[in-house]
Amino acid sequence: MDCVSLREIADEDLPIFFEQMTNPAACHMAAFTCKDPADHAAFLGWFTRVRGDPQIVARTVVCDGAVVGQILTYPREGRREICYWFGQAYWGRGVATAAIAAYLTRVSARPIYARAARDNVASIRVLEKSGFLLEGLDRGFANARGEEIDEVVMVLRA
Ligand SMILES: CC(C)(COP(=O)(O)OP(=O)(O)OC[C@H]1O[C@@H](n2cnc3c(N)ncnc32)[C@H](O)[C@@H]1OP(=O)(O)O)[C@@H](O)C(=O)NCCC(=O)NCCS
Repeated sequence: MDCVSLREIADEDLPIFFEQMTNPAACHMAAFTCKDPADHAAFLGWFTRVRGDPQIVARTVVCDGAVVGQILTYPREGRREICYWFGQAYWGRGVATAAIAAYLTRVSARPIYARAARDNVASIRVLEKSGFLLEGLDRGFANARGEEIDEVVMVLRA
């Protein structure tokens, strides 16, 4: 996947992210979404925070000139966690795997933790391909499912 490059988030990326992050299939997959992904004011508030917080390293992922998704790491309960989200049109082509590999060469902090709904097979596979190992299981309320579900916790140590 040679096309993938990363850059800082730009204002013009936000409408694309909003569309990607309100996609019902993607929300179901990610499961642990914000309460209401369609709340545009909350979305803008989140990205204002993301772009202004020096502890959050967020990048737009571009492929062949198109904004295909985003990756970020942020502090959560004293640990650094990774999150990523890609447009459905780009799934299944190795874009996430290539983008995370590029991101991890630029962000050297370790360990990095990740969480995924236990049935988010694609995300768990991407993490495995990126060198993350299973750390344990957890259970939490998934806004996009309206119920508590199992999640996996994975970690990249080196
Ligand atoms: C999860 C997500 C990041 C995957 O992105 P992607 O670009 O499709 O990922 P890749 O193409 O790099 O790799 C996907 C891998 O999962 C595998 N996969 C996908 N669906 C699968 C399924 N149902 N069963 C088994 N394997 C599956 C693919 O075969 C591929 O593995 P392979 O290279 O060994 O064949 C993307 O679907 C997404 O952004 N989803 C919405 C948001 C989300 O879930 N974010 C993560 C929150 S934890």
